[in-house]
Amino acid sequence: MAHTFVIFGASGDLTSRKLIPALYQLSRKNRLPADTRIVGFSRTPYTHAAWRTELSEAIAKSTGDRFDPQLWAKFAERIFYHAGDIGQPDDFDRLANFLDDLEKDPDSTRIYYLATAPQFYEPAIEQLGRSGLAKENTCRRRVIIEKPFGTDLASAKKLNAVVHAVFNERQVYRIDHYLGKETVQNLLVLRFANTIFEPIWNRNYIDHVQITVAEEVDVGSRAAYYDKAGVLRDMFQNHLLQLLMITAMESPIRYEADAIRDEKVKVLRGIRPLTGNQVCQDTVRGQYRGYLSHKGVAPGSRTATFAAIKLYVDNWRWQGVPFFLRSGKVMSCRTTQIVVQFREPPYMLFPDGPRSVAESNRLVIQVQPAEGIQLHFETKVPDAGMKLRQTDLEFSYQREFRGAIPEAYERLLLDALEGDASLFARADEVVAAWAICDPILAEWQASDKPELHVYEPGYWGPFECTEWMLSQGREWFDTCPVLKCFNA
Ligand code: BG6
Repeated sequence: MAHTFVIFGASGDLTSRKLIPALYQLSRKNRLPADTRIVGFSRTPYTHAAWRTELSEAIAKSTGDRFDPQLWAKFAERIFYHAGDIGQPDDFDRLANFLDDLEKDPDSTRIYYLATAPQFYEPAIEQLGRSGLAKENTCRRRVIIEKPFGTDLASAKKLNAVVHAVFNERQVYRIDHYLGKETVQNLLVLRFANTIFEPIWNRNYIDHVQITVAEEVDVGSRAAYYDKAGVLRDMFQNHLLQLLMITAMESPIRYEADAIRDEKVKVLRGIRPLTGNQVCQDTVRGQYRGYLSHKGVAPGSRTATFAAIKLYVDNWRWQGVPFFLRSGKVMSCRTTQIVVQFREPPYMLFPDGPRSVAESNRLVIQVQPAEGIQLHFETKVPDAGMKLRQTDLEFSYQREFRGAIPEAYERLLLDALEGDASLFARADEVVAAWAICDPILAEWQASDKPELHVYEPGYWGPFECTEWMLSQGREWFDTCPVLKCFNA
């Protein structure tokens, strides 16, 4: 079956940094369907050859020594370019003719990738509809929409309406690249392909869950975008809530897109909304020192670059178990981890100095880097009476499987080519996620509370967040993953 992959926003950063490298890797691994063409569409006037050359330089840069000019040359034969402007209906008509001429097979599946700035999503979709490019006869048409999907609840609903006026939901693939990460998919496997976790994966055994996405980088050249978005829109509405959904969901009835997404949406619907004063009590905001000096940041900006939020999922499994979510820029280290903290043992049997209880078990899922899982448990220290210490059982992707972990986009693009939407967000999912974030954003803006704490670069966010967690009777698991090198 032939496929045509059309990228809108072809001259942009996402295309050269993520999309083309992912397609190239798929081709290198012989996973790209043989008859797949890639067509770039943007305003910059390139010839096919000029675009190929520009992309090859970007790939050579990103793959370094591993760049294979021969393989690239073969792959580049599949790449084409068609200049056009999303604001010009004629350009879509011309694109339609170009694609018809290019495709030898009239039944080619077409995938339109919206990699443009978000304000062009709606006009691009409208033009795809008007020009007949979205129409399915005997062939398949799909659209992949990059994040952000809207900037709030109202805009996400509006964007969904525009999309649905042209495409059926089954044709729509909303990207959240976290779902393309191996370790995030492995969370599904950990939970639903092993019997030992399910019986304890609930309020009877789990005290709380921490989901941390800490970044070392600052907002850099994206400051103008970021200043309008802030950490809640940029990280929580999508990535952190995705991690929460997969941690908290019930087992889907089968591994199939809608069955999975039905269960995920139920988690979001079960989240107790935070509004008014509750927002002040259950959230922490921060801004790193130096943020205001980035070019593109408004003077005196109140944008949060760090946040921590306590959420409850109101259902039988999770009633009373807090989920602590936090994310920030310019923190101590880059780490995405899910910490499942189990309850304390009911009674300390062993005389271990002043400790009245043994430390609780903890399951740490290292999403990145140092991908793996650790189970922390108490052990007897040898030759020291009945002294106990926390030790861990460790699974490391590197040690177990060697080889580099593929980029999230590889899996996602392949799934979209094959028509599997399991790892893409559905319309109701993005709406439900915004419904959780909107009231928090509204309260932050209306009351300017809780206080926006300035934090020093290189720490775990504001010191007040550590205190806030202590006031919840818990402690953050502030540990940078240890990157070990395992020789083959
Ligand atoms: C993006 C955000 O969606 O995710 C960025 O816009 C953030 O601000 C990035 O840096 C983090 O992704 P990853 O895969 O590096 O954890």
